Amino acid sequence: SIVFLNGVYVLAEEARISPFDRGFTFGEGVYEVCIAVNGKFVDAPAHLARLDRSLAACGIAPPPERADLDSIMKELLGKNDVTTGLVYLQVTSGVSPRNFTIRPDGRSTLLMLAQASDFEQASAFREGIHVQLREDIRWLHRDIKTTMLMPQVMAKRDALANDVSDTLFYDEQGITEGASSNVFLVDAYGTLVTRPLSNRLLAGCTRERILDLARGAGFSIEERPIQRAELATAAECFVTSATYLITPVLTIDGVSIANGQIGPITRTLQRLYCNYMV
Ligand code: PDD
Repeated sequence: SIVFLNGVYVLAEEARISPFDRGFTFGEGVYEVCIAVNGKFVDAPAHLARLDRSLAACGIAPPPERADLDSIMKELLGKNDVTTGLVYLQVTSGVSPRNFTIRPDGRSTLLMLAQASDFEQASAFREGIHVQLREDIRWLHRDIKTTMLMPQVMAKRDALANDVSDTLFYDEQGITEGASSNVFLVDAYGTLVTRPLSNRLLAGCTRERILDLARGAGFSIEERPIQRAELATAAECFVTSATYLITPVLTIDGVSIANGQIGPITRTLQRLYCNYMV
């Protein structure tokens, strides 16, 4: 495949990143995942705006290509013959001696890669997933999309070891988010419930879009923490992310939501979102 690295398109096997890159030695990096469907990006401006916020929060200089990122994203898809798939975009603070506080004097490292994937055909999207709950042991700046993903990788591997496909995190106030998604519940009255934004969770671009589409369709919405005890009595539950789209949750820690069937509001929002994407 062809990747974009620091201003040039290059074959992945020929791409060179310094061993002294602080993304590697310190995990000092931020990222975005944006999808395209039939060549059209989904909410690219929101993803790029969040990239800017993450960079500013970490004190990482924007890459010199910042103004051209949307056209580079498009060109990278084309060079890889991808029409439906994802673009992964990572920015690290660059290269410096192995010293915690030193500021690199060179440019921030920008890596972009493209991967084909048919999100609407995924069995998770079509048939739903089973998840487990785990205490959220991550740091308290989950609003920044950093590349420090060890807790998420461990939580997802632990899920697989327990024969479910993902982990949802909770803190003392309730569910925070999924390991790579935001969480929604539909209560007995058909109200959509999701956690309000704070430093405790990532401001998902998909979350924001779903809220917008749901509002437009006349659903009632409550932004408040979801209690773990509420999940057993929820009418429906789903997770959202760029790649999950709207993925139904069928069971949580072995307990079925409704009858383990995909609910009508989840189906309606899936349809609205798929129409929005094209
Ligand atoms: N993850 N919360 C976390 C912790 C995430 O990692 C993600 C996305 C989301 C949803 O954000 P969005 O709707 O903007 O994709 C919420 C991406 C997809 C990933 O790491 O692959």
